[in-house]
Amino acid sequence: MEVPIEALGDWERTHDCGTLNAAHIGQRVLLMGWVWRRRDHGGVIFIDLRDRYGITQIVFNPQHDSAALQKADQLRSEFVIAVQGVVESRPEGMINSKLPTGSIEVNCDQLRTLNASPTPPFLIEDEIDAGEEIRLKYRYLDLRRPRIQQNLLLRHQAYGAVRSLLGEQKFIEVETPILTKSTPEGARDYLVPSRVHPGHFFALPQSPQTYKQLLMIAGYDRYFQIVKCFRDEDLRADRQPEFTQIDIEMSFVREDHVMEVAEKLTRSLFAKLGKINLPDPFPRLTYREAMDRFGSDKPDMRFAIELVDATAGARASEFKVFHSVLEDGGEVKGINAKGCNSFSRGKIDGLIAFAQDLGAKGLSWMKHTDNGLESSIVKFFPEAAQIELIKALDSEPGDLLLFVADQPAIVARVLGALRLELAQRLELIPADSWTPLWVTEFPLLERDEEAGRFTAMHHPFTSPMEEDLPLIDSDPGAVRARAYDLVLNGNEIAGGSVRIFQRPVQARLFELLAIGKEEAEAKFGFLLEALEYGAPPHGGIAFGFDRLIALLTGEDSIRDIIAFPKTNKAGGLMENSPSAVDNTQLRDLGIRLA
Ligand code: AMO
Ligand code: AMP
Repeated sequence: MEVPIEALGDWERTHDCGTLNAAHIGQRVLLMGWVWRRRDHGGVIFIDLRDRYGITQIVFNPQHDSAALQKADQLRSEFVIAVQGVVESRPEGMINSKLPTGSIEVNCDQLRTLNASPTPPFLIEDEIDAGEEIRLKYRYLDLRRPRIQQNLLLRHQAYGAVRSLLGEQKFIEVETPILTKSTPEGARDYLVPSRVHPGHFFALPQSPQTYKQLLMIAGYDRYFQIVKCFRDEDLRADRQPEFTQIDIEMSFVREDHVMEVAEKLTRSLFAKLGKINLPDPFPRLTYREAMDRFGSDKPDMRFAIELVDATAGARASEFKVFHSVLEDGGEVKGINAKGCNSFSRGKIDGLIAFAQDLGAKGLSWMKHTDNGLESSIVKFFPEAAQIELIKALDSEPGDLLLFVADQPAIVARVLGALRLELAQRLELIPADSWTPLWVTEFPLLERDEEAGRFTAMHHPFTSPMEEDLPLIDSDPGAVRARAYDLVLNGNEIAGGSVRIFQRPVQARLFELLAIGKEEAEAKFGFLLEALEYGAPPHGGIAFGFDRLIALLTGEDSIRDIIAFPKTNKAGGLMENSPSAVDNTQLRDLGIRLA
């Protein structure tokens, strides 16, 4: 049935759909918005009219106006309409105290249908069960959901808060180029071919790292930017190919100065936008301690399970699996799943499979009962070994002990993930708990076994710790960096470092990274040269803005706080990007496809 569409004419909104309340009773109003729900109660039609401010109930009553009622009969979900009528109080028992407009309704006497809509592919509801693909394809409909609208509103408030909080502290926002040269954050670059320079490409910035350092050299002292970054890497719920950073750089500073600014900013944002009080100061852990105790460089500190060294108990045992790992230079560590000795065999097998999926060769377990430790491997553990384990894991009857023997990196990965898994299964993570943490003293370098060389753990401009400089030649892998990450509830929300500001040190680092003189010159010659012209000591940090907003809004995925996100396959489902281009465009760019 063709619905007659009417012109807006000279109609003007008097209010939005979220404002009317008892104080407006008796007033004549004009509202516009989308038809959300429509109910027909024996000839009386009720419509929930929605805009981004809220919803207002509209009533079409035959006693009042039969022409409007007739038109209302043709309205369907997501039609855009304009209504005029008088604000009335809702009858006794019909009041909805959860809605700001819940005590009133608008009794409509004039209706204009401004536009129609086919039945949407999914209901515009917060509790949505439509798959993400269809939601991303029709993102403009998905974006009508109040929850996403609230998310984007909070995101908008965060831009403003960041700008004013940093502005108050003398930071200035400077834009840096998007069409630029490869920047080293460890992911693949997105490349843009140049038409003017055939065969040459711009790279989209993985971060403004080099530019912000150049701004320090240029004397700008305190810089920030809310900025898009582009990284071609494997995507997850907390990773997008284009994402936003709050990027910060400061001159004449040490670690503590940058960390203080970042802490203050984080505390203010959470207080202002989430009414969440974060501790002052944030606790700190070194990378070494974080890995040893939690098996992660972004430990979730909201629950207490820790990894403990079980080497002494393993040594005192006759368990071959453990001994052979120890002989190979590995380690044995365990976690105590408190109160879990009632886990069934099936449940434990599930944990074993979980550990194996993460690369463990196995997962050993012991139940602590009133009769002591019990499991098929306990026979390999003489009493002295059992006492060692019980002491190390602080175990008592009722507990379940889980052990992994392997090289330290694997033990950390497996037990670190198992710790999180147990916390979730046992519901150990309290709601509304917020535990920020600084992780410091990261290793400067990371061994890339495949390539047989070192890569920078943070990025190649990160300064080594002064006291570790003597190790640079003898044991580069042991050198610690002046780098720090900010972690909140197990999410890495920011990372930064004090930078190298002297050319010889930077050149030495490129050497360590097996970046030859020519390559260094070609890639970063401009920065190396700039370092010679009076570069001040400087350092900075960058926040993952999307992750901050996801935490503040309670969303699991950063896709829910980005207006037009990409899929996990780095594509845009709505606009269908990336897409093929026509041959003339390719010819202009001097590109031939293989
Ligand atoms: P880094 O690479 O640690 O540091 O990035 C800073 C923060 O950005 C967020 N982040 C991401 N968020 C969403 N999707 C992604 N693909 C993604 N990648 C990173 C994280 C991370 O902590 N130039 C340095 C900063 C500096 O040294 O000042 C940098 O970019 O929350
Ligand atoms: P296997 O000798 O492989 O039959 O293993 C004997 C027991 O030790 C099994 O319960 C395995 O799950 C466990 N196990 C094997 N390898 C490891 C390991 N690296 N760390 C912890 N437990 C292991």
